[in-house]
Amino acid sequence: MQEKLLKIKKEALEKLSNANSKEVLEEIRVGYLGKKGELTLQLKSLGALEVEERKEVGKKANEIRNMIEAEISKKQEELKTIEIENKIKSEKIDISMSKSNIQAYGHKHPLSIVFDEVKEIFIGMGYSIAEGPEVEFANLNFDALNTPKDHPSRDSQDTFYITDDIILRSQTSPVQARTMMQQKPPIKIIAPGRVYRSDTADATHSPMFHQIEGLVVDKHISMADLKGTLEMFSKKMFGPETKIKLRPHHFPFTEPSCEVDVSCFMCGGKGCRVCKGEGWIEILGAGMVHPNVLSYSGIDKEEYQGFAFGVGVERIAMIKYGISDMRYLYENDQRFLNEF
Ligand code: DAH
Repeated sequence: MQEKLLKIKKEALEKLSNANSKEVLEEIRVGYLGKKGELTLQLKSLGALEVEERKEVGKKANEIRNMIEAEISKKQEELKTIEIENKIKSEKIDISMSKSNIQAYGHKHPLSIVFDEVKEIFIGMGYSIAEGPEVEFANLNFDALNTPKDHPSRDSQDTFYITDDIILRSQTSPVQARTMMQQKPPIKIIAPGRVYRSDTADATHSPMFHQIEGLVVDKHISMADLKGTLEMFSKKMFGPETKIKLRPHHFPFTEPSCEVDVSCFMCGGKGCRVCKGEGWIEILGAGMVHPNVLSYSGIDKEEYQGFAFGVGVERIAMIKYGISDMRYLYENDQRFLNEF
């Protein structure tokens, strides 16, 4: 009987190792462990044996049964995994599209290209990006920036009024005030965004356009820091040969203030069509943050100084790409956009 058991064990394990489907596995189980299974019959016939032999053979037979059962569940798991893998393979959807069906590739708008370049340059210099709302409080757009109610420079920044106190911001400069109210120095931010003016659209004006504001506030900040920063920015933006020139100007929120010109990237300063014979191109406004602006936002003007600048994004794009009319930037004409 012992021999018979060993034979059953050998055969069963062999069959199990070759089993390749749930059905075959079930057949093997019934064949050995079912009511009339080979092993079951052996177990049933134990009664005919002597007590001692019955114990020994019974133990063996139970061991074999456990072994076969364990092997069956192992095999079941294996088959389940294979089944799942096959299912995944067969249900895989090919989401690729043949290249010939693509009519046109999308790409960045020229204004986005400029935004991203400027952001990258300033992030590289350790600046963070700050944001403010396009629908802004009039006092943050003007009063906080040393431009009280009757200040003449409000005229050139006339914008759209929602109420007397709420407007579409005319510049990104209110983000200076918002940042200083929320954050203690050192502050080093740029604020890119959309701004509005009640201008009629023409080749160089639009009621909606884009700016990037810059603000640095810390101890011992001087005009030299402003100049070095803008020089670095201009070289990265327009090429390593670029020189900058600071011309005195007036902005209410900076003192002293300047406008910044870059040497023409087209002719290198000799004078050409791009720079209208000047050799220089104006690119931004800047200056040392006015003490009144610091105080309005709760910064100690005795302890801290800062510089600020404001860049017109359309202007940079127009210079860089030789765009003659600002309106092209908003018309979404594919013939224009495909040039970039
Ligand atoms: N906000 C100004 C404008 O829209 C631009 C500007 C000039 C911003 C000088 C500044 C600055 O931060 O210092 O015309």
